[in-house]
Amino acid sequence: RGLDFKRLEPYVGYLVRGTYVTLLFTLVSALFGFIWGGILSLFKISNVAPLRWFSTVYTSIFRGTPLLLQLLIIYYAVPQLFGYTIPALLAAGLAFGLNSAAYLSETIRGGILAVDKGQREAALSLGIPYRTMMVSIIFPQAVKNILPALVNECVALLKESSLVSVIAVADLLFRASVIRSTTFLAFEPLLAAGAIYYVLVLILTSLARLLERRMRRSD
Ligand code: ARG
Repeated sequence: RGLDFKRLEPYVGYLVRGTYVTLLFTLVSALFGFIWGGILSLFKISNVAPLRWFSTVYTSIFRGTPLLLQLLIIYYAVPQLFGYTIPALLAAGLAFGLNSAAYLSETIRGGILAVDKGQREAALSLGIPYRTMMVSIIFPQAVKNILPALVNECVALLKESSLVSVIAVADLLFRASVIRSTTFLAFEPLLAAGAIYYVLVLILTSLARLLERRMRRSD
C-alpha cells in the first residue's frame, strides 16, 4: 500500500541508460526517416509517373496500417520468409524510419511546394541543373519552412518509440516493465518513465517554439 519511490533507487542508472537508448533510437530513426522521406518527397513532385505512383502507394500503406504491425512484420515475418534473423534494435530502427518517412514525405513535399516559384525559375534560367537546384536551392528553403513540423515528428517518434519494448529492445518503457516485474512495484517505475518521457517532450516542444519564433524574425 502507498507509493515507495525509495525502492527505485537501485534502478536509477538502469533507467538512465534506457532513456539514452530511447533518445538515441529516436534520433537515428528520425534521421533515417528524414533522408528517405526527402527522397520520397522528390519522387512525389517528379514528372516520372512510376516514381510518383510508388511514393503515393508507399505513403498510403505505411500511414494506413499500425506502426506496431509494421514493426512485427519487419522483426518476425520478413525474416521468417527469407530465413534469417535480425537484431531487434535494427528491425525497430528500420520500421520507425520507414514509417516516419511516409509522414515526412508529405511534410517535406508541402515545404517544397511552398518555396516561391521564382526561385525555381531563376535557377532554371541560370542553367542550373535540376538536381543541383533541388538539393542546394529549393530543399534548404523547404526545410527551413518546415523545421517546427520536423521537431513535432521527433516528438511523435519519441513517444511511439515505446512500442519497441514489445520486441524487447531495452528502451525506457521496457526497463520500467522489467523493474515492475522484479520489484512487484507497478506505479513507481511507470510513473518515473512517464515523467522522463514528458520532460523530454517538453524540451522538444519548447525547441520547436523557439525555432518558430526565430524564423518569424528572420523572415
Ligand atoms: N500510432 C500511429 C500508428 O500506429 C503513429 C504512427 C507514427 N507517427 C508518425 N508521425 N511517425 O501508426
